Amino acid sequence: YLLGIDIGTSGTKTVLFDIDGNTISSATYEYPLYQPHAGWAEQNAEDWWEAVVKSIREVLRKSSVNSEDVKGVGLSGQMHGLVMLDKDYKVLRPSIIWCDQRTSNECVEITNKVGEKRLIEITANPALTGFTASKIMWVKNNEPHIYEKIYKILLPKDYIRFMLTGEFATEVSDASGMQLLDVPNRRWSDEVLEKLDIDKDFLAKVYESVEVTGKINKKAAELTGLKEGTIVVGGAGDQAAGAVGNGIVKKGIISSTIGTSGVVFAYTDKVTIDPKGRVHTFCHAVPNTWHVMGVTQGAGLSLKWFRDNFCSDEKEVASLTDVDVYEILTKEAEKSTVGCEGLIYLPYLMGERTPHLDPYARGVFFGLSAKHTKRDMLRAVMEGVSYSLKDCMEIIKDMGIEALEVRASGGGGRSPLWRQMQADMYNTDVVTINSSERPALGVAILAGVGAGIYSSVSDACDNIIKVSTVQKPIEKNISIYNSYYNVYKNLYTSLKKNF
Ligand code: XUL
Repeated sequence: YLLGIDIGTSGTKTVLFDIDGNTISSATYEYPLYQPHAGWAEQNAEDWWEAVVKSIREVLRKSSVNSEDVKGVGLSGQMHGLVMLDKDYKVLRPSIIWCDQRTSNECVEITNKVGEKRLIEITANPALTGFTASKIMWVKNNEPHIYEKIYKILLPKDYIRFMLTGEFATEVSDASGMQLLDVPNRRWSDEVLEKLDIDKDFLAKVYESVEVTGKINKKAAELTGLKEGTIVVGGAGDQAAGAVGNGIVKKGIISSTIGTSGVVFAYTDKVTIDPKGRVHTFCHAVPNTWHVMGVTQGAGLSLKWFRDNFCSDEKEVASLTDVDVYEILTKEAEKSTVGCEGLIYLPYLMGERTPHLDPYARGVFFGLSAKHTKRDMLRAVMEGVSYSLKDCMEIIKDMGIEALEVRASGGGGRSPLWRQMQADMYNTDVVTINSSERPALGVAILAGVGAGIYSSVSDACDNIIKVSTVQKPIEKNISIYNSYYNVYKNLYTSLKKNF
């Protein structure tokens, strides 16, 4: 058996798998997100630890698997979060997490100190508020009394690793999101650290994701019920972990995930950078490979916004008939037409990352006429999100990365209508796979490689991950979407100055 732990933003999910990748038992514990000011987002690292301990105990209890038979542990988690410990290993302040937006000044500072070109050459990305380096600089600039007490800086899942094993370690995929890693060479960048005046000793040792980074120590064994000495591998940031759990470990297979945000993720066997920085380039969890990913901020969020504000009747029907409200909404959207007769939605409710990198962009309905109805607006929302994922896909293809098959996942990936739209827009088969436990399965696979159960990540994925549904592009829809996609693209350009 193998254990995957995913320290997410809403909660921690721990899953026990057998070596064929079947879920034996799982448990989730939630915790709060604090927003002390607009645009700030913080969580308590201690809350993550409590959720990890409880979920491991529950998973072991429910499964009645003997802890001796758990051969390895993999850690996944929300990326970019800043955890700082003092010399007594005490957490110094609440963690500033990935979606916190307070650091735009620090991004300018980082760009000036390192130089834009060098920053992209070394860290493969432009300075972004999400990344950890800007959060460290913010603490340095605004809370010097805390900065001077720093002994170690850790990412969320690596704090949990420390609590489980006593080791200060990280791995390349998550470390990439700190913006302190030399991404092509997969090690900390002395140049960036020097230019930002950040002490290298603050940082943990960097491993490949499949490497053993430590063993469950006595105290953690007592608390969790795991066996002392069980190996803990590097694991991965949630996106890379989810990609492994979706089989995105070879050329030609790309994933499209519609959660709150939307992510298009591709494997690459060499460092591939968009010079405009519109997609992130990070190390992948497969040794010596990389990945690129485009992010659309308001994907599932757009449909949820529409549901919450305009669909109280549908919500009531859903609760009376015990049907998922999204199923009712999708059925309605199906009754509209491909392209919604010119009604186009821009999903920029929370600004946009790929392709515009514009926090000020906003949502738009364009082309409304008197004959349009609510179901057209509903479908336009789903089409608009798909166009924005197509934007990500187009940049990735322009970088020379092939997309032979797209694997849909996330809540939105469960909708056949949303998958068909994507197949038609990308002009590529859109498939789903047999398991839905993406990040936890991904890091369990990494743990299995570390434990010597599987010979490689891609071998394990080939054996465990199977395609379960396939949707092919429909010829007559391709050209309709193509012409509206051009309008969609022009809209942002013409509206930009008004946002
Ligand atoms: C990746 C990103 C998110 C977080 C939270 O760049 O910001 O995926 O890891 O899930």
